[in-house]
Amino acid sequence: MTKVLRICEPARDLPVGGEEIVVRGFQVDTGGEMLELIVVRHGNDLTVFKNACPHTGVVLNWLPDQFLDVEGVLLQCATHGALFDPRNGNCLRGPCVGQALHRLPARLEEGVLYLED
Ligand code: FES
Repeated sequence: MTKVLRICEPARDLPVGGEEIVVRGFQVDTGGEMLELIVVRHGNDLTVFKNACPHTGVVLNWLPDQFLDVEGVLLQCATHGALFDPRNGNCLRGPCVGQALHRLPARLEEGVLYLED
């Protein structure tokens, strides 16, 4: 049986408000460890990544919910500055070019975003 974990309620937790994209960090309890997640909202599209830089495995952000570069367009790792495409997680610049953030399967059901494993 597939285990389903609740991530957030996007309408409440990632409100669209004039920004091109909205990015927030969340944690889910997998029953033994806390999994750090990044959720990207682009209009009605929601993408979930594991919050782990492919360069060293650290979380991307130093501050809560601070994932975007100064232009507010790309995801940026705070440690060495790698830049990632928020649509697919591909590293575009930095020490892990050619690698990508790990995208996780998720689904929206009755306004709640769930992580599936
Ligand atoms: S740890 Fe992310 S770029 Fe080095």
